[in-house]
Amino acid sequence: MPRGGRHFCVGASNNGFAQRVWIIIVGQLLLSFGTGCANQLREIAKGSSNMSYPSVQLHIKDQFVVMDNGIVQVNLSNPGGQVTGIKYNGIDNLLEVVNNETDRGYWDLVWNISGSTGTKGYTDRIEGTNLKVVVDNEDQVELSFTRLWDPSLEGKLVPLNIDKRFVMLRGSSGFYSYAIYERLKEWPAFNVENTRLVLKLRKDKFHFMAIADNRQRFMPLPDDRLPGRGEVLAYPEAVQLVDPIEPEFKGEVDDKYQYSCDAKDIGVHGWISNDPPMGFWQITPSNEFRSAGPPKQFLTSHVGPTSLSVFHSVHYSGDELVMKFGPNEEWKKVFGPVFIYLNSLTNEGGQDLLWEDAKNQTINEVKAWPYDFPASVDFPSSDQRGTVSGRLLVLDRYLNENAMPGNGSYVGLALPGEVGSWQRECKGYQFWTIADENGRFSIDNVRTGDYNLYVWVPGVIGDYKYNAVLPITPGLSIDVGNLVYEPPRDGPTLWEIGIPDRSAVEFYVPDPNHLYINKLYLNHPDRYRQYGLWERYAELYPDGDLVYMIDGGDYSQDWFFAQVTRNTDNNTYEGTTWQIKFNLDNVDKSASYKLRVALATAHNSDLQVRINDPAANPLFSSGVIGKDNTIARHGIHGLYWLFEVEVPGTQVAKGNNTIFLTQAHQSNSPFQGIMYDYIRLEGPYPSNSSKNP
Ligand SMILES: *[C@@H]1O[C@H](CO)[C@@H](O)[C@H](O)[C@H]1NC(C)=O
Ligand SMILES: *[C@@H]1O[C@H](CO)[C@@H](O)[C@H](O)[C@H]1NC(C)=O
Ligand SMILES: *[C@@H]1O[C@H](CO)[C@@H](O)[C@H](O)[C@H]1NC(C)=O
Ligand SMILES: *[C@@H]1O[C@H](CO)[C@@H](O)[C@H](O)[C@H]1NC(C)=O
Ligand SMILES: *[C@@H]1O[C@H](CO)[C@@H](O)[C@H](O)[C@H]1NC(C)=O
Ligand SMILES: *[C@@H]1O[C@H](CO)[C@@H](O)[C@H](O)[C@H]1NC(C)=O
Ligand SMILES: *[C@@H]1O[C@H](CO)[C@@H](O)[C@H](O)[C@H]1NC(C)=O
Repeated sequence: MPRGGRHFCVGASNNGFAQRVWIIIVGQLLLSFGTGCANQLREIAKGSSNMSYPSVQLHIKDQFVVMDNGIVQVNLSNPGGQVTGIKYNGIDNLLEVVNNETDRGYWDLVWNISGSTGTKGYTDRIEGTNLKVVVDNEDQVELSFTRLWDPSLEGKLVPLNIDKRFVMLRGSSGFYSYAIYERLKEWPAFNVENTRLVLKLRKDKFHFMAIADNRQRFMPLPDDRLPGRGEVLAYPEAVQLVDPIEPEFKGEVDDKYQYSCDAKDIGVHGWISNDPPMGFWQITPSNEFRSAGPPKQFLTSHVGPTSLSVFHSVHYSGDELVMKFGPNEEWKKVFGPVFIYLNSLTNEGGQDLLWEDAKNQTINEVKAWPYDFPASVDFPSSDQRGTVSGRLLVLDRYLNENAMPGNGSYVGLALPGEVGSWQRECKGYQFWTIADENGRFSIDNVRTGDYNLYVWVPGVIGDYKYNAVLPITPGLSIDVGNLVYEPPRDGPTLWEIGIPDRSAVEFYVPDPNHLYINKLYLNHPDRYRQYGLWERYAELYPDGDLVYMIDGGDYSQDWFFAQVTRNTDNNTYEGTTWQIKFNLDNVDKSASYKLRVALATAHNSDLQVRINDPAANPLFSSGVIGKDNTIARHGIHGLYWLFEVEVPGTQVAKGNNTIFLTQAHQSNSPFQGIMYDYIRLEGPYPSNSSKNP
């Protein structure tokens, strides 16, 4: 049998029955190890009723209940349904044993009464009041912890019936959790800001965090953030580690928002322990239950060590994304299931292997979606779902006479609404896919109900909506045929700045102040995740605001990624005016021109546009928009906006012209501002054009 440092492989466990599985794998020839592991894990993931795995055991006690499949043991409080223990790989508890039992693994939500404004509310660590064993056989245990609402609880408890489910399958190296939230029609109105599944791991074990191939690092300890070891920077989440326990972190900034991630990219994230070598992973096999579509950003893992599965939040969106329930509004939604996956190695030093295996496991979970095991009737299986397919074409006559395939388009189904409404939608389910090179798409496993079909195309401005409502019924397959998106356009492009991709990432992102770095993001494509970049603007433009020359300008160097406020000498923050200078050889005074301005995010900002006279009445004012807080939270996009500004030919000059972009709302905050996605000047076109009401 091969032994020694090079001969390791990922296994479900190194104790009990799984040890035998292990020996079989290790007993194979070195060359076949990778495949051997992968196959073994695939089989495990299916949770097949393979008799070679021990059956799942359920032990119910007065105060607690334990699910045990010989690989993992999960201990839950009875009837609260708080996860108090996860035993695996010879370790009694992977959760933070130092914490109170109600502070280790829990579902929570933040809510407030109807009419509350902003994003603050009451945190409810959902405590079940009744346990029901829904499934208990050799292959599966499923537990339901419920908490029911009644009118005597009005004002004290969020008006929701909540059913938290925990599932363990035979031969599976982990467990699943999902929850069903329901409000009855006659219940009082209320708001929900946030809901999550939180798992807090042992800080003496889990030190290495992985959230993407290129976002992995050893993490500081929670103690390092406390007064004495850490100093709070501009807001409580951002802490500078002045005297960390491990000196290697000294001087770094820690902030959980530096580890947020687009929903489309959060398949798996988690933590690795070196002693013994093992991984703890949150796997999200589908985003159907998450709010606001593929670009919505959520927190993932952060110092704690904490592992989050966030189903709904207002991060990078603000108040507009608060779930607001009115009177007489019925609602029910299933969040999850998500999979908590555990893996281990016999030898140290295999962080990459644990991460690779967790990614492989994620692929398996995605393939198995929609799962066939959840016992709730509210979680429909594949044959109870429908499909929508078609082909998306983009017709922009100024670029091409013919409609072109919308390759790479994001095509999604969400609750019926306005064009682009999906990015503010959070009560229903959303189903998204990416169109292939010919623009073809198929959205599978859609839950029953009424949907609109929405599209946005990287490289193309604006949003498309297919006008018919699509009523999905079980087994129904709808082919919508060829859909043609004609993006907003009135005349030829005179010039453009940036790429229409709903992000400011292509613009100039400065180096951080060397006092405030997170080493992970040095020489990293996500350099915008560094702390304090908002202060760099006034340092780089000390004597005047940004002026961009269309002739010879390079937006990757000359266009600061955010139009932030300027920190003036007496520590006040003022709005700024940026200029775009361009030259026109010919001007048609009787024609119109159109400026299209796409924003990647806005925070408490009023964008005003003028041409050639900085003191004139603005041609356009957005009004005060945005509560995304993207600048403070080191993001590069939030909610998308697209504005069009009519520029009369009479105001355009032959020769030099200047467009003034003013952020006019003064609120004396460093976190206020706009990120542009893309700007384009079109024209000239006849000012009486029918396209131009
Ligand atoms: C992950 O899957 C790939 C493709 O099947 C395989 O080559 C690789 O060995 C697997 N990695 C691990 C760690 O199991
Ligand atoms: C489960 O948790 C309870 C409460 O802490 C504890 O008394 C019990 O020993 C635990 N059981 C197992 C099998 O870990
Ligand atoms: C744990 O927290 C709960 C809720 O805050 C509290 O009621 C309980 O007394 C705490 N238990 C211990 C052992 O500290
Ligand atoms: C609930 O909302 C109100 C009104 O917006 C606010 O004043 C209050 O602080 C919020 N409650 C909590 C606990 O944050
Ligand atoms: C679509 O295809 C064109 C031509 O091959 C390519 O330039 C473009 O990047 C593709 N767009 C996306 C979003 O994949
Ligand atoms: C200092 O701040 C005040 C407002 O707080 C402002 O009115 C004044 O113009 C500022 N002075 C300078 C020199 O910027
Ligand atoms: C127009 O702008 C260019 C720089 O882009 C400058 O060199 C030139 O002097 C300007 N012409 C006039 C008439 O202001």
